[in-house]
Amino acid sequence: MNMSVHPDSVRAETALMFPPGFVWGAATAAFQVEGATTADGRTDSVWDVFARRPGAVRGGDNGEPAADHYRRYSEDVGLMRRLNLGAYRFSLAWPRVRPDGGEANTAGLAFYDRLVDCLLESGIQPWATLYHWDLPQALEEKGGWTNRDTAYRFAEYAETVLERLGDRVASWSTLNEPWCAAMLGYAGGIHAPGRTDHPAAVAATHHLLLGHGLAMDIIRRHAPGTSAGITLNLYPVAPHDPANAADVDAARRIDGLQNRLFLDPVLRGGYPDDLVADLEPFGLGSVVRDDDPAVIAAHVDWLGVNYYRDYRVAGRPVPGSEPAGPEWVGAGDVHFVPDPAAPRTDSGWEVQPAGLTESLLQVHRGYRPVPLYITENGAAYPDVVGDGGDIVDTDRVAFLDSHLRAAHDAIQAGVDLRGYFYWSLLDNFEWAEGYAKRFGLVHVDYATQRRTPKQSAHWYSRVIGLNGLG
Ligand code: NOJ
Repeated sequence: MNMSVHPDSVRAETALMFPPGFVWGAATAAFQVEGATTADGRTDSVWDVFARRPGAVRGGDNGEPAADHYRRYSEDVGLMRRLNLGAYRFSLAWPRVRPDGGEANTAGLAFYDRLVDCLLESGIQPWATLYHWDLPQALEEKGGWTNRDTAYRFAEYAETVLERLGDRVASWSTLNEPWCAAMLGYAGGIHAPGRTDHPAAVAATHHLLLGHGLAMDIIRRHAPGTSAGITLNLYPVAPHDPANAADVDAARRIDGLQNRLFLDPVLRGGYPDDLVADLEPFGLGSVVRDDDPAVIAAHVDWLGVNYYRDYRVAGRPVPGSEPAGPEWVGAGDVHFVPDPAAPRTDSGWEVQPAGLTESLLQVHRGYRPVPLYITENGAAYPDVVGDGGDIVDTDRVAFLDSHLRAAHDAIQAGVDLRGYFYWSLLDNFEWAEGYAKRFGLVHVDYATQRRTPKQSAHWYSRVIGLNGLG
């Protein structure tokens, strides 16, 4: 445990300041916090169904009760206000808004109407994400994201949302982490819909990106002047031995699949040539139609970067390494090499703050100028509720402190970074890990739904008040 950062260490005299107007927020996602999975006409998403599969989710957990945010949103907005948050990043549940991917459902949509109004009344900017992995199951039964038609159904859903909320949301994001939706869901089998079919994952990748482009057009038409973008999970990738050709090629392939497969079509107008070649055996060429690259390259006002860790890879087994799992479509003989010196979070992820600076710089140096937001960064730790009910999550404070310093380093190096959203506001349903991993600034007792801000929440709120770090 790193005890070096005391929560009172944020002092104005020694502050490391962020630019004026820097957006400070926290993030959640519909399926992870809302609960109320059958309320007001909502039908199953792929995650409701996947969670029923024995062994798919740790402890047999599912989307109930989550943090019951659907019913407790106004208490949660009150918490956000007390914590000084300037913005709240949340997602809308497609199966509430258009159950089964069919007709619009006024009752489901009304929840987001209430949430957005409540945020605005509290002076908190609503940042809405249209897709955070909860595809209506009825659409999965028609092929899900492997079916090109799903991209058009997504645009239709986006239109329903934009018609209702386009006048009040501060910023729109089309997709959250399409890499996870496509690769973990369709190739790795560890996220919904739990498929292990490599060509399906490649088709899903392309159709998600197509859906992004189509939704950007809907956003422009219904909310002209409102800023909009997409959120990608970026991981800097380094070769284990930079002098070893196999390791260098492994790094190229993993960087390609994780980062450039998404960055290039969105910011450069097409898939990178090396990936087109690597993914040809999995049918990339057969799903891309002539007009698609231009649709996908629709102008974005910002790019959201979700950052959790970095990777070192080898093109051969080396001591301590783990072979790449099935989610790495076409990666070949790649092995992930751990850094034994790095501390780890409760998810087992290495804490590598410098990788955040590097990811931001990779976009800044390699692509057209685009404002960046860190739309997610955070850590799970085994929080302990003390006898007095307090939660002293010193590890999370240290994690936040080091990553905010890394974000500041990127700004110093010239990156146009405009905001930071901690993942997550609340403890929640951590996908295949169920409720076992706690990422929240605010602790949730799932039995009583009692919320308790952790020490990190108080620390973060002081950083926000100061717009800087001690
Ligand atoms: C990324 C995802 O967007 C979010 O849903 C997830 O809970 C966090 N990472 C932590 O794994």
